Parts: sequence; C-alpha cells; structure tokens
Amino acid sequence: MSNSKVAEFTAPGMTSESATRTIDLLDNRMVALIDLQLTLKHIHWNVVGPNFIGVHEMLDPQVEVVREMTDTIAERIATLGGVPIGTPKSIVDRRSWEDYSIGKGLVKDHLVALDKVYNGINGDHRKTLEKLSELDPVSEDMIIAQLADLEQFQWFVRAHLESSTGELKTK
Ligand SMILES: [Fe+2]
Repeated sequence: MSNSKVAEFTAPGMTSESATRTIDLLDNRMVALIDLQLTLKHIHWNVVGPNFIGVHEMLDPQVEVVREMTDTIAERIATLGGVPIGTPKSIVDRRSWEDYSIGKGLVKDHLVALDKVYNGINGDHRKTLEKLSELDPVSEDMIIAQLADLEQFQWFVRAHLESSTGELKTK
C-alpha cells in the first residue's frame, strides 16, 4: 500500500504537485495523531499514585478530540485524492519515533513523558503549518485549529508539573 498515491482528481484549482506534497505532510500528521490517541489511552490505563483520578479523567476528553482529529485529517487526505492508510503495521512502519516507554507508572513520570510527546507533536504541527501556508490554505486552517487544542492539552499536562514560579519540574 502506498501512502502517497494520488487519484486523477484533486481539489479544483490545486496542482497535482501541490496536492501530493500536501498529502505527504498530512499523512505524517495523521500517523502522529493516531499514535497519540493510542498513547493517551495507554496512560489512562496505566497511571497510578496520588492524583490518579484527576489525570485518569483528564485524558479521556483528549482521546476523544484527538480521535476526531485523525478522522478529519484522513478525510482531508481522501478529499485531495490521497489514500489515508490507517492499518496498525503501516502506521508503525511510517513512524519515525520510538514507542512510548512507560508501562505502569506514577503520575509524575507519565506526565513528564507525555509533555515530551506533546513537544514533538505540537512542534511538528507548527512546522507543518509553515509548509502548508504556500501549498493549501484549507489544510493549513485545519492544522491551525488542531494545534490550538493540542497546545491547550499540553498546558493541562504542564499545569501538573509547574511550580508557583513557573518552572517545569521534570526531575
Ligand atoms: Fe476508561
């Protein structure tokens, strides 16, 4: 299965070259978000210790919103004539980072690790925006909306690690 296959059609007014480049950028973000929604559930199941219930219950709404993002981005890929491939092996094959490393773990350890996950995803979403601004403003707009939610979710995580003087306690 090719992840960059483009149909004979794309959005009217868009060149097939711009469509191919846009699809590749969106595919990379789709892989990251599918990974994120699974990782968030994994943490929801395996976090333990003080503040368990707050963190456990914080994560499910994030799962729901990120899952909706994967649907939106996959359907944008299809709209542009691409093929959104969401089978598990293909997702792992296209992933450029290691699996989340913590199993059962304390709240703080999971949140420090999740903050790093959001650093990667949100940083890459922002880089993708810069590239999309010249290729496809509709996809750019979609990624902007996603990034607003993703950055708020990272704030929720960081608020658990922050001191009253604004330092992140990651040790
Ligand atoms: Fe649950």
